[in-house]
Amino acid sequence: MTPDITALPDLEAISHEAARWMVVGAREAALFTGRCTVALSGGSTPRRLYELLASEEYRDVVPWDVIEWYWGDERCVPPDHEHSNYRMAWDLMLGKAPVPVGNIFRMPGEARDHARAARRYENLLRDRLPDLAFDLVLLGIGSDGHTASLFPRSTALSERERLVLHTKAPKGSDSPDRLTVTLPMLAHARNILVLAAGASKRPIVEAVIRDPEAAATQFPIARVKTSGHLTWLVDATAGA
Ligand code: 6PG
Repeated sequence: MTPDITALPDLEAISHEAARWMVVGAREAALFTGRCTVALSGGSTPRRLYELLASEEYRDVVPWDVIEWYWGDERCVPPDHEHSNYRMAWDLMLGKAPVPVGNIFRMPGEARDHARAARRYENLLRDRLPDLAFDLVLLGIGSDGHTASLFPRSTALSERERLVLHTKAPKGSDSPDRLTVTLPMLAHARNILVLAAGASKRPIVEAVIRDPEAAATQFPIARVKTSGHLTWLVDATAGA
């Protein structure tokens, strides 16, 4: 399945388009269920999106009161650690917007028993998402083709039952121990938006366009499928 890939001029453009996607998707979800469940990504690409959502330009149209905030992955560090995906979202967006604190469900990255922490978050998702479906999922692409914390050649890629696992990032990564949603969890999502910017992502984007099945043998992002909508927003340097 080739995802719907849209190329826009630069990171600013994809960040604004992603902000519009988030606002529209959140309002639509809330119309049907009274809430919107969002799984955030880490990395540098979504930083501008998070800033925009809390900015004067968007903050008054974001339905903050009905959005529940989850994460697609987290580094196994405390929530105030510089590598924490939760901290990034808090500093750039959640801490600057009228977000009910009870609507934030961060992954317990600080837990020492990583496998137990993954199971705890999986149990939370099963409790809070009866159909296991996030309304909106944001994902990035690593230069090795990873997404969330699903890395190439990881045994987590062949998981068929679990929804959240402890994984290890390659040597040299920020905070090697990670918690991540699995491909089965992503497969339930109603809407997934993949953001990619920069020339290092171009080989992956081109491989997916050329032959999605072949790309899936090499790049975890190419394995992301969903029964819902899968959209990629790429900037001109990453795009085909
Ligand atoms: C993380 C992210 C990760 C990220 C990619 C892309 O915890 O680091 O969830 O999957 O999306 O590594 O990162 P950049 O946006 O910095 O290229």
